[in-house]
This record gives sequence, structure tokens and C-alpha cells, in this order.
Amino acid sequence: MAVRIAGIGTSLPPDVLTNHDLAQMMDTNDEWIRERAGITSRHIGGLTSEMGIEAGNNALKSADLTPDDIDLLVLSTSSPDQRFPGTSAQIHAGIGLDCGAFDVNAACAGFAYGYVAAYGMMMLPGGPTRVLNVGSDALSTLVDWDDRGTAILFGDGAGACVMERHEQGELLAFDLGADGNLAPILYCEHGDTIKMAGREVFKRAVRAVTASIKSALKQAGLTPDDIDVVLLHQANLRIIEAVCARTSIPMSKTHNVIETTGNTSTATIPLAMEQAALNGVLEPGKVVVMSGFGAGMTWATLVVRW
Ligand code: COA
Repeated sequence: MAVRIAGIGTSLPPDVLTNHDLAQMMDTNDEWIRERAGITSRHIGGLTSEMGIEAGNNALKSADLTPDDIDLLVLSTSSPDQRFPGTSAQIHAGIGLDCGAFDVNAACAGFAYGYVAAYGMMMLPGGPTRVLNVGSDALSTLVDWDDRGTAILFGDGAGACVMERHEQGELLAFDLGADGNLAPILYCEHGDTIKMAGREVFKRAVRAVTASIKSALKQAGLTPDDIDVVLLHQANLRIIEAVCARTSIPMSKTHNVIETTGNTSTATIPLAMEQAALNGVLEPGKVVVMSGFGAGMTWATLVVRW
């Protein structure tokens, strides 16, 4: 038995904050942000539940399914609407689902972690046939708008995919990792704003993602030449370039949205996935590598045959 991605949906709040807008608010400028991060603008003003509902509904529409066809909802987020219930409950109600639902918090690696958790449950006897895997984050609500080291990077957004048991599609390999000793380089306390040691996160992220992709490819018995499509966490275009250089994967295989979304945390991989679908590269049989990293630190790589 195999699992395919039957539909993809996304959501971005309508309000756009450009680098020029940020330059009015703090000591920064458009050229610096574009050169150092690859970002021109980002969407802000979203609510995790509302964006998750819209992305989930769009994924159902793209798979030509109704809420009744879904057997499990997995939401990854690190910016839940409330402490509890889990924001998956609000999304569950908003879409009108009739199935189990739970939250995952693996920060920006959440979507890939959620994928593996869902996949494992689909393999259980009596497990779900179709899972709605949603990633939604509203990090603009957690940003310190006086801190130019973080405020320029983050935006709000959501992405979702329908995972479906099917003879087409396969999870060829995965690699999940974490190092809790690195929590102090990127964290957000209850009631406070995001604190980040940017340069350190950059260095660790490049190292972790490079090793994770190499490990997953080895498990799958594949080389970089076998990869058709690469969807990397959209945190900084320079991180994506550095990972590609170290894994010998050409940048031309990556599909990116960071320029107009910034870092939307767990939503970046499904947003990049939708972009790849629009670019017409997600055809059955293609080998797709997805890799995310985030606070924890956490990291996660999936190697999927589409
Ligand atoms: N605008 C203008 N100048 C800025 C700036 C900004 N927003 N932020 C920092 N600078 C300045 C610094 O003060 C420093 O000036 P100095 O040389 O006079 O001291 C210079 O630019 C370089 O700063 P540095 O922090 O070394 O920049 P950087 O190249 O490391 O870029 C980040 C900073 C945050 C963009 C980068 O480190 C990064 O993306 N890190 C990873 C963050 C991340 O991905 N987080 C999410 C993980 S899920």
C-alpha cells in the first residue's frame, strides 16, 4: 500500500508588508533584506485557525473531496490561537470534519513531522484512508517589531495537503531529528516575542538540513541526480543556496516562494509545493525531496515518489 498527495491548498492573509514598509518602522532597508534573506514582502494579519481552515478547504477542493472523505486531521503549528484546545479543534469545526484531530508542534519542521506521523497512522490496521495534513502559523503575532534581526524574516500563512492511500505515490525514506540543547538559539516564551541568534541558527540549519537530506537519500538508495523536485523550508534564500551547494543539488530543482511570503514557519513547504504544482513539475513518478528545520532545533526530511 502506498500514499499519494491527492490535493494541495494554501492561504495567505490579504495584508502585505513590504521591505519598504519595514524601513519606515525600523533601521533597515529593502536592499539589505533582499540580499541577506531573499525576501521582498510578506503577508501578515492572519489567524492560525482561519488560515488553516482556508488552506484545508482549498486542499479538499483541489482533491475533489468533501469533509466527509477525511478520516484524520493533523495540524502543525507553533502559534496556536489558544493554549487549549488545540487549534486543530477550531479547524476541525470550521471545515466541518467528522474524525480525529490533533496538534503537532515541531516549529518550522512541523509539516514534515506531521506527514510522517500521519503516514505511520495510515499504515496501522484500520488506520485512516485520507488525512488532511495542515501547517498554519501566524508568526507576525509573535514578532518584536523593534527587532530588525527577526521582524524582517517572518510572515503568516498556511498550507495543506490531502494524503490518500493509493497505488500511486510512495514515501521512499524519511529522516527526523532534534537537538533540544539548541533551544536557546530560537525560542518564544509564553506572552513574549521571538528571540533568535540569527547567525547561529543559519549555521546550524545549513548543517542539519544538509546531513538530513544526505541521510534520507542514502536510506532511499538515491543520489542527488535522481531528485526531480526540491521543496526546502523557506527561511532564507541563502540557506537554500548553501544546502543545495553542499548536497550537489542544482538550485534549478528548488521551487521557492520566500520572496513574497517570508518565513511562514510550518506553512513554507506546502506553499512551495503548491508553487511546484503550478510550475507543472509534480508529475506521477517524480522524486520529490522536502526538508524543514526550526526551533528545537528540529529538522525533518521526506523523500517521496509523487
Ligand atoms: N537591516 C539592516 N542591517 C541589518 C539588519 C537589518 N534587518 N539586521 C542586521 N543588520 C546588520 C547587523 O547589525 C550587522 O552590521 P555590522 O556588520 O555593522 O555589525 C550586519 O547587518 C550583519 O549582521 P548579521 O547578523 O551577521 O547578518 P546575517 O548575514 O547573519 O543575516 C539573518 C541576519 C537573521 C538574516 C541571518 O542570520 C539568518 O537568516 N539567520 C537564520 C534565521 C532563520 O532562518 N530563522 C528561522 C529558522 S526556522
